[in-house]
Amino acid sequence: MKKMIQVLTVGMFVSIFSVAASAGIQPSLRGDNPLDKGEQGIAVKKPLTVKGGIERSFKKQPPMIPHGIEKDRITLKGNTCMKCHSAENAKKEKAPEIGESHYLDRDGNKLAKPSSRRWFCNQCHAPQVDAQPLVELDYQPQK
Ligand code: HEC
Ligand code: HEC
Repeated sequence: MKKMIQVLTVGMFVSIFSVAASAGIQPSLRGDNPLDKGEQGIAVKKPLTVKGGIERSFKKQPPMIPHGIEKDRITLKGNTCMKCHSAENAKKEKAPEIGESHYLDRDGNKLAKPSSRRWFCNQCHAPQVDAQPLVELDYQPQK
């Protein structure tokens, strides 16, 4: 029995590797740098700034962040995104106010203040960099 499991395990590894090789797996984020050469560090790319925002790929998609957020901080007590995106500040800062869904509690009731479920903005909204995907994508936007 033990022998059989050993054979099966080896077989599994061999097939995983041959599948990976035949699929021409893309290099990883570490590039062609061999494992035994140690880490080279990842190049930090500049965040994209896109005037007018980034087109959504499907209805109800949390829109991508069209600006850098390196200086923003979200903690239990403070959220610098709201300096521009809250109802009070949006007009003045010429920023879009947080979406309507941000005022709903989990039962769908409208609240006077933004829901705590939407406090950690980058749980759903992500900034973008000018980077090519590691693997080819054939996803088509759903309108
Ligand atoms: C200094 C003001 C400011 C701060 C701080 C700020 N934003 Fe923005 N944000 C803007 C402005 C202005 C736009 C509109 C840009 C445009 O459309 O050209 C915008 C656009 C966005 C959009 C796109 C909305 C859409 O409908 O496409 C998202 C999402 C967003 N911001 C999220 C965030 C998050 C999350 C943070 C904090 C991590 C943040 N922003 C901090 C000013 C700000
Ligand atoms: C749980 C996911 C989630 C979180 C957390 C979240 N958002 Fe959103 N956001 C969405 C979705 C989904 C939409 C699109 C639907 C809508 O407009 O309500 C959206 C829309 C937006 C928009 C565009 C509104 C418009 O009318 O075009 C802005 C700006 C925004 N969010 C900012 C923020 C900020 C700032 C925070 C943090 C305080 C935040 N969001 C937290 C999911 C989220």
